[in-house]
Amino acid sequence: MILVTGGAGFIGSNFVLQWLAAHAEPVVNLDKLTYAGNLRNLDSLRGDARHVFVRGDIDDAELVAQLLRAHRPRAVLNFAAESHVDRSILGPAEFVRTNIHGAFNLLEAVRAYWSGLAGEAKRGFRFLQISTDEVYGSLAAGDAPFRETTAYAPNSPYAASKAAADHMVRAYYHTYGLPTLTTNCSNNYGPFQFPEKLIPLVILNALAGKAIPVYGDGLNVRDWLYVDDHCSGIRKVLEAGQPGAVYNIGGNSEKNNLEVVQTLCAVLDELRPAATRYASLISYVKDRPGHDRRYAIDAGKIRRELGWQAAESFAGGIRRTVGWYLAHAEWTRSVTSGAYQKWVSANYQERGAA
Ligand code: NAD
Ligand code: TYD
Repeated sequence: MILVTGGAGFIGSNFVLQWLAAHAEPVVNLDKLTYAGNLRNLDSLRGDARHVFVRGDIDDAELVAQLLRAHRPRAVLNFAAESHVDRSILGPAEFVRTNIHGAFNLLEAVRAYWSGLAGEAKRGFRFLQISTDEVYGSLAAGDAPFRETTAYAPNSPYAASKAAADHMVRAYYHTYGLPTLTTNCSNNYGPFQFPEKLIPLVILNALAGKAIPVYGDGLNVRDWLYVDDHCSGIRKVLEAGQPGAVYNIGGNSEKNNLEVVQTLCAVLDELRPAATRYASLISYVKDRPGHDRRYAIDAGKIRRELGWQAAESFAGGIRRTVGWYLAHAEWTRSVTSGAYQKWVSANYQERGAA
């Protein structure tokens, strides 16, 4: 079996669902269920004995060691993290604790477990760290996209905490020989994304007739990838990646924020027409401090070496995503409770947009 951490979050839950649809192999899912973790994402697995959910913290050494002893996984995939840049600006401490210390704790427990394996079990074992393109910093227009060899230059507390974990993963491969893999992926979107991130936030604000907050001039560029493609890339890296290697995962789909917002509004105009066009809700607000201008991924290595490439287009993925949020109003209601409203006030009031 495999051990997945953070499997009740956005990407982790999509991964667990995709994994169990494609493989017979069971998944142990360790998740702390922070504000971003949601067991409803895994509702369709109720009664499926191949999914074992454990509520707990990757920073709990005793618990992680016990899970490894009890389940003896052949691979550990670390999705668990604090993942939102704006939250890392308002409160970086939890990012240091989970993303850095939690990853370190997990590596230590995995090293002890892996050291006790022998033969094929030891050779075949993998630790896969799910990371982000944000560790590479910000590109100017016209710069070449990030490659696996691009120097790390993280700019936000979130990116710095992920970079620190990536360095520890690298060190555990080089120092101890732990068979690690690291994936650095661009911005994801799709079902089950918590509506603090741009795409679900825009969909939900538009449907509620609320202002759509665009930071700064709206011309920051992200390289968007449909979440199913990220999950299939991770599966490919787990199956065929070289121990110690890093793989960038991206969809070759650079868009500036205004293009993303306008595309969402146009799809909503078509699928859920309102009295006025949704784009009339767009409102420019105070920029994010240290806002990275552009991210772009060169996904050539994973394509050449492992034969993976994104299957979904941006237009197709956006349409599927809008359709999913329209069809899952109950899920949305369940995640936009009191705590979510508090976050919206904390992040947007000061920007002049709550
Ligand atoms: P998310 O915030 O939606 O989910 C994170 C999950 O981790 C939640 O279920 C949460 O409960 C859990 N968690 C948090 N702290 C924990 C802890 N200490 N112990 C156990 N579980 C804990 O995040 P996401 O968007 O699904 O991102 C998943 C991973 O992918 C992260 O490592 C992130 O850095 C990386 N990533 C995300 C993107 C993106 O666009 N969302 C892009 C590239 C990489
Ligand atoms: P986000 O989804 O937070 O992802 P990241 O910061 O990790 O790339 O933001 C994507 C882009 O959208 C980023 O340039 C910031 C911008 N943005 C807005 O303009 N308004 C918003 O309300 C949010 C949440 C993000």
